Amino acid sequence: MSEATSLHEEEILGKAYDARLMRRLLGYVVPYRWTAVAAIVLIVLSSLLQLVGPLATAVALDLFIRPFAGEAETLSAVSRWVADEMVRRGIEVEPAVGLGIVSLIYLGSLLLTFLVLYWQGYIMQLMGQRIMFDLRRDIFGRLQRLPVAYFDRNPIGRLVTRVTNDVDALNELFTAGIVSIFGDVVLLVGIVAVLFWLDWRLAIVTFAILPLLLLLTFWFKTRARRSYREVRVRLARINAFLQEHITGMSVVQLFNREEGALDDFSRVNDAHRRANIRAIFYYAVYYPGVELITALGVGLILWYGGSGVVAGALSIGALVAFLQYAQRFYQPLADLSEKYNILQAAMASSERIFRLMDSPVEIASPADAYRPGEVRGAIEFRQVSFGYNEDEQVLHDISFAVAPGETVAIVGHTGAGKTTLASLLQRFYDLDSGSVMVDGVDVREWDLELLRGPSVWCSRTSFSSPAR
Ligand SMILES: Nc1ncnc2c1ncn2[C@@H]1O[C@H](COP(=O)(O)OP(=O)(O)OP(=O)(O)O)[C@@H](O)[C@H]1O
Ligand SMILES: [Mg+2]
Repeated sequence: MSEATSLHEEEILGKAYDARLMRRLLGYVVPYRWTAVAAIVLIVLSSLLQLVGPLATAVALDLFIRPFAGEAETLSAVSRWVADEMVRRGIEVEPAVGLGIVSLIYLGSLLLTFLVLYWQGYIMQLMGQRIMFDLRRDIFGRLQRLPVAYFDRNPIGRLVTRVTNDVDALNELFTAGIVSIFGDVVLLVGIVAVLFWLDWRLAIVTFAILPLLLLLTFWFKTRARRSYREVRVRLARINAFLQEHITGMSVVQLFNREEGALDDFSRVNDAHRRANIRAIFYYAVYYPGVELITALGVGLILWYGGSGVVAGALSIGALVAFLQYAQRFYQPLADLSEKYNILQAAMASSERIFRLMDSPVEIASPADAYRPGEVRGAIEFRQVSFGYNEDEQVLHDISFAVAPGETVAIVGHTGAGKTTLASLLQRFYDLDSGSVMVDGVDVREWDLELLRGPSVWCSRTSFSSPAR
């Protein structure tokens, strides 16, 4: 196998979004559309539930704790709303009872979040597994219908990768990618809305660090993408090396190449290790970097919000709610850039998978295939010329006939084309010129299943096909 061609496909890392590929991929979701809808509804619900906690804290502080700590005039928007509702409905609660209720709401939202996330994760994985099953079945089904010549051209290792790794990359897309993007976006929009509702000035201060975060994310995304691609290329090289050396182990041992091969492998292996360490470096900088910027945001909120509280312009409840939201805000933002990588890997994988599935089935039964009731077994090769490659002819102008029941021995030195004759008789390859006839009918007109079935060769012709 030539290393250059096997690497080529793995090196392509195209765009992150391709509408045509996406539409085809979504075709695999269609049978499970209700599962997908349920997963999206649940994840949106979980995002909304995550908004509840800080609001409950704000109400607890503003309405039930702070009145005892000092004169309460400033209320956060949510506390004012709750207070107005209580007045309107004529509800009065002791602070201790109120705290209890708010705590229960907080706890309830956490429990509900747990349940929702559990079901969401479960059904999303269920859908991913089913889609993987369908995809693998389709790919293997397709592989079986591809002409033998296809397998001469494509190394086995690469085809196995399609059915295993590439399908896994798509699973990642369905389980971790698409659906959770909905959750992240809803959470971000929800937090922005709530923060502006609580205090628009403090909201602007909170978002002041966003450019910094975007800058870091952009840096990370471009570097991580390049190093991810590098790791894939190195891994493909390891796979190619292993495939060549394991399938050719007898040759390696015959020529005492063990030590040389080990040296070669160490080089490939080392390149992979170094590429991985480089990739890890970017992750190691990015996530702590996000933490650092988050801490900066928290500091800004404490400084600006704190002086607002002291000046009586901001309620303590709003300040604490802001601090909690700030922690929840930057994480989905950072996650979104990770989703981008998943999307990109999935697009590259689906492109390779669909290219395989789109490979033409060059050899198939014609529409009105010849299906005789009885097979006699007369064989005739008429001026057959054939080559596996265009530039190298294996058979030229071969003609002979075998009558039903007749025994014929084919003798020739190795590489003369004996196996090729048997392959042509079963139409594993199509001819360049001439024709192969069975019972006076060209094999191209035969029904393939019947031509290759036992009835032809077990009937009366004793043409023992040599092993390939
Ligand atoms: N899949 C293939 N792709 C390209 N070339 C091939 C392929 N199979 C066979 N060949 C080439 O075609 C020629 C004929 O091969 P074939 O296998 O028919 O010989 P054979 O007579 O069966 O030999 P043997 O006695 O070793 O089995 C050889 O030169 C061989 O290298
Ligand atoms: Mg042979």
